[in-house]
Amino acid sequence: MVTEPSIKVGLPNSYCVVGDPIAHSLSPKIHSWFAENEGKTFLYHKIRVAKGSLKSAIEEFIGTGGKGMNVTVPLKEEAYSISDVRSDRAVAAGAANFLSFGDNGEITADNTDGYGLITDISRNLNMALSGKVVFLLGAGGAARGVLDGIAAQSPSLLQLSNRTLSKVEKLSNLIPKSCPREIVPWGQMSTTQPDIIINATSLSLTGDLPKINSSVFALTELVYDMVYSSKPTSFMELASRQGAKNVSDGLGMLVEQAAESYRLWNGTLPRTENITDRLRSY
Ligand code: ATR
Repeated sequence: MVTEPSIKVGLPNSYCVVGDPIAHSLSPKIHSWFAENEGKTFLYHKIRVAKGSLKSAIEEFIGTGGKGMNVTVPLKEEAYSISDVRSDRAVAAGAANFLSFGDNGEITADNTDGYGLITDISRNLNMALSGKVVFLLGAGGAARGVLDGIAAQSPSLLQLSNRTLSKVEKLSNLIPKSCPREIVPWGQMSTTQPDIIINATSLSLTGDLPKINSSVFALTELVYDMVYSSKPTSFMELASRQGAKNVSDGLGMLVEQAAESYRLWNGTLPRTENITDRLRSY
C-alpha cells in the first residue's frame, strides 16, 4: 500500500479511493465538497494499491480505522471477488467500485457506476433513456458496469459494438431478456439510427477514436464519452464537428457515482449541483 504524499491515513472512520495509478483521482476533492455542503468533514484519502494486493491493503486500512473504499482501475473485479456480501448491482457488473467494512471485517460490495451514468444523463443532461435507441461502444469492464443501469431505463433498443466480437456477444447475453438488443459489427452502421451514443471503450484515454462511421452523429441527441478530461476528447470533438446535438464527457458520471457512494456510507444523498462546474475550474 503506497499512500500519496501528504495524506495521513490512520484516523478513525476514514474512507479512501484505491487504484493504480491514483494520483490523478478527483474523488477526495468531490467527497470533501459533498461534506462541506452539509457543514461536515469527511476523511477521505487516495491510496495507490497494485493489482493483486487489494486484500492486504484493505486489512491494513481497516486496522487504521478505515470504514469504506471506492475502487477504481484496475481493481474493480478484484474488489468484487474478495467481497463477502454483494449487491445486485455489483453482481450485474461483475465488479465493485464501492466497499464498506463491517465491525467484524466483513466486506460489502456495491457498484454505483450505472447509477452515476444514468443520473448524469437523465437528471443533469435532462435526457430520458426510456424509449430511446442507445448505442454502447465497448465491451470491457466499463461497459459491463453500466449495462444493467441502461437496460433498467427501458430503451427501445440497446445496440452494442466492440472490436472483439466474442466479448460483445458475452455482454449481450448479460442484458435482461426484456431489453431488445442488437450487436452492430465494429466499424459498421446499423439500419436503426441511435438517439444516444455512449463510448465505454478505453480509447479516449490515449486520444484514439473508435471505428465508427461518423455520419451517425448528425442525427444523435447525445454523444457521451465515459472518460473525463480537462478538454473535450477526440471522440467528443468528432461528434460535435459532425453535428451531434449534445456532447458530454464523464465528469458528471464521476460526481454522481461518488454521491451514491457517499449516501451508502453516510445515509444522505449529497447535493451535486455545481460540483462538476467547480471541478472544471479547479
Ligand atoms: P475498461 O475497464 O476501461 O472497460 P477493458 O476491460 O480493458 O477496460 O476494456 C477496454 C475496452 O476498450 C474494450 O471494449 C476494448 O475492446 P476489445 O474488447 O476489443 O479489447 C476497447 N479498446 C481498447 N483499445 C482498443 C482499440 N485500439 N481499438 C478498439 N477498441 C479498443
